[in-house]
Amino acid sequence: MARLGETIDRADGYIIITSEYIHGCPASLKNAMDHLFVEFNRKPVAFVGYGNVGGARAIEQLRLVAVEFEMAPLRHAIHIMADLMIPAMKADPFSPEVFASLDRRLETMVVDLLWWTTTLAAGRTTPLSD
Ligand SMILES: Cc1cc2nc3c(=O)[nH]c(=O)nc-3n(C[C@H](O)[C@H](O)[C@H](O)COP(=O)(O)O)c2cc1C
Repeated sequence: MARLGETIDRADGYIIITSEYIHGCPASLKNAMDHLFVEFNRKPVAFVGYGNVGGARAIEQLRLVAVEFEMAPLRHAIHIMADLMIPAMKADPFSPEVFASLDRRLETMVVDLLWWTTTLAAGRTTPLSD
């Protein structure tokens, strides 16, 4: 857990990749996050989800959780739906061509995440006023 905390602490922004089980994020992911707090504070997070509906419900839950960590959860996300995921698993899941239809969304998400990452990193250098 100490190593996870140090790793998370080093980053100024995050992309959380989640599957979806029974309309929620995996318990293992939530459990890992629950061991952290200050490492996440005032940093942005974007999401990539996969599952029958692209992890949409898991991501919605994680956005609420992120607020409790005092993070900035971002709107732009990648949803890998079953109709894309299943053929990808049968072909080559590591081939970038398989997921080419998501490239524009990924670009939008990354540009947005970089803006928030840079902006909040600068903001964190200013202490909160009393
Ligand atoms: C018990 C079980 C429940 C699931 N529930 C959902 C669900 O609620 N929504 C969804 O989109 N996919 C659901 N799935 C599909 C999983 O998201 C999918 O199998 C995914 O690949 C699991 O990711 P993982 O293999 O990395 O754990 C479920 C799968 C299982 C086995």
